[in-house]
Amino acid sequence: MKISAMKISTKLAAGLLILMSATLAQTGLAEDLTVKDGVFTAEQVASGQQVYDAQCKTCHNMRFYRDTLRSWNNQPLLYLWENIMGTMPADNPGSLMFEEYTDVIAYILSENGFPAGDLKLDPDNGMDSIKILSP
Ligand code: HEC
Repeated sequence: MKISAMKISTKLAAGLLILMSATLAQTGLAEDLTVKDGVFTAEQVASGQQVYDAQCKTCHNMRFYRDTLRSWNNQPLLYLWENIMGTMPADNPGSLMFEEYTDVIAYILSENGFPAGDLKLDPDNGMDSIKILSP
């Protein structure tokens, strides 16, 4: 548990650096995105649906996720990712791959009306500056 927590924070630190240089290169300005800005791809939604059906559907329905997004309004999407990764599936927390947790979030956002786009959702790259909005 300790080791994986360390790994994650190293990855996050690396991700932050990548984000900062990418943002500077693209716009010269650090701009915050929201889940409305096409921050995940259609491919992520499709694979997230498979993860969701296999790992999440038995215990929650979409109504539950809608309420969750509502209560996380304005929080960085990375925090929700970390929360889900650390606690879900409730009967086997942390058992999925990073990418599966990421894709399942893309699917949940899509089901709640947020658009897919050109950006690939990536916990190592900028997810801390994407804000959750209430659906
Ligand atoms: C074995 C049952 C079970 C499975 C499978 C499961 N969950 Fe949960 N989940 C729970 C319980 C219990 C809670 C906490 C009580 C509650 O909020 O209803 C919870 C809470 C949550 C929350 C609320 C977090 C918060 O703090 O607001 C989210 C989001 C969530 N689960 C997502 C998922 C996702 C995504 C999956 C699939 C990867 C999943 N769950 C699979 C039982 C489950």
